[in-house]
Amino acid sequence: MEVDRRAFIASLGGVAAVNLMDHEAKAEALEHYMEDKLDEMVAAQQPEKFPTVAEIEAQIETRPYRRGTGSVFTGQRGQNVKIIEPMPDKPTLQDFFRLRFAPANHVLQSATRAMKTGMSEEIILACLLHDCVLSLIKPDHGWWGAQLFEPYIPEKSAFAIRYHQTLRFYADDDAGYEYPDQYYRIFGHDYQPPQYIADTYKMLKNHKWYMEPRLVTVNDLYAFDPNAKVSIEPFEDIIGRHFKQPKEGLGYDNSSSAHMWRTLARPDNPL
Ligand SMILES: [Fe+2]
Ligand SMILES: [Fe+2]
Repeated sequence: MEVDRRAFIASLGGVAAVNLMDHEAKAEALEHYMEDKLDEMVAAQQPEKFPTVAEIEAQIETRPYRRGTGSVFTGQRGQNVKIIEPMPDKPTLQDFFRLRFAPANHVLQSATRAMKTGMSEEIILACLLHDCVLSLIKPDHGWWGAQLFEPYIPEKSAFAIRYHQTLRFYADDDAGYEYPDQYYRIFGHDYQPPQYIADTYKMLKNHKWYMEPRLVTVNDLYAFDPNAKVSIEPFEDIIGRHFKQPKEGLGYDNSSSAHMWRTLARPDNPL
């Protein structure tokens, strides 16, 4: 094992401190240092231990909320919820990004990647919107998300949003998509998707639009870069071309998902 001299001397308090040590103390310090380093190396090579389905289930009664609750309804990291800014009278998609989906880093980073990798505008839009509904509700977020946006976006984008949830459970080496470690963490390493997901996957494999949701999964990032500066600005043109903003504002156009937008707008309403 190589010893990083600078790091070793620094760990002892610097050159002056080392000069005060006798030979035996130095030898002992070096031995401890090497033992610690070795432990670190071994730890780094241990594969992460993922929970089992049973372990995840055992956590349910340790929380005052369910994991499927949309993020606007729960406090972050165990804290109480905060007063939220009311939506403007005729809210736009951008208003919802700013006031209800924020910080939206995950979808913005995914859409940024989709743009960099030369995806179609329908796919870039799908990446931008694919997980926004998690603010409202989490189970079956592909279906809920597609329903939320369907009245306003191209059919291919809605298809991609609806089915990215299913394809996340199935690797596709040719497309460059691996089963995510994050799913071992959140579902358990022995998790099997339910039958309706398996059936949906079977349907998608033979569908002419298979690649639409697949490309959302390929651009779906779990390794967030906390320093990446992302904003909605680079996507304004695509939103302008493909998102049919209702003149009454989202929630007030009587569309099939208007009530979902209103729920996002007023999550504190008791009824
Ligand atoms: Fe998702
Ligand atoms: Fe995602």
